Amino acid sequence: MTNKYIYFVANWKMFGNLRMIDSLNKVISFVKKLKRNRFRLIYCPPNTLISTLSKKLKPSPILIGGQNCHESNNYGANTGQVNSNMLKDAGAKFVILGHSENRQLGESDRLVNLKIRSSIKSGLKIIFCIGESLSQKKKRVTKKILTQQITQGLKGIKNKKHILIAYEPIWAIGSGLIPTNPEISEIIEFIKKKVKGSKVLYGGSVNTKNINVLKKINNVDGFLIGGASQNPNNLIDIIKKTFN
Ligand code: 13P
Repeated sequence: MTNKYIYFVANWKMFGNLRMIDSLNKVISFVKKLKRNRFRLIYCPPNTLISTLSKKLKPSPILIGGQNCHESNNYGANTGQVNSNMLKDAGAKFVILGHSENRQLGESDRLVNLKIRSSIKSGLKIIFCIGESLSQKKKRVTKKILTQQITQGLKGIKNKKHILIAYEPIWAIGSGLIPTNPEISEIIEFIKKKVKGSKVLYGGSVNTKNINVLKKINNVDGFLIGGASQNPNNLIDIIKKTFN
């Protein structure tokens, strides 16, 4: 795995303020010092920070993503919403869609599909999240659930080269629990068979300790990192360990 090109996506969720942006100087100089990058780092801060962060990161290879968007990329009377064109305008190149924290608020596969379509039209790349709940895992219906999320989420989308798929078991998010490497590897293979040529990331409780184990998964194309990505030292540590 260490010879591969690896994605690290930092999902800050509803955390972050202007002070936290200053703490990224360390990450920027770490990335700039590397002669040849074998990875791509994408920060997904809350919308309030996208523009500021994008200006700060512009001279570096680090990219920015949004964490969600409205399904229409037109302007509209939708209080509190932001669309994919607006994310792009603020400096985002990516957007996370279908995150389980939004699915739990009622976001359907159909809505995720509309968001993916409009975001592709806006020129964004997509980090498309899928994953099963603990009860679904116990009922052994993980592959059925993932198939449904993939089939409906990507319905009618022919060119999938703009899409990274993030496998995030819901029970692994923020819990400190992670599936075994063979379990993750089997699911990644399953996803790659369903979506030919896709790149698949793993997300859910990735941290500075378990990265030593997770990096051994030979078919993983990167990691979607929540809590641990808010601390620049931890994120640098995760990247360093992945390649050591
Ligand atoms: P944690 O890394 O905090 O478990 O979050 C994972 C996640 O949901 C990233 O999108």
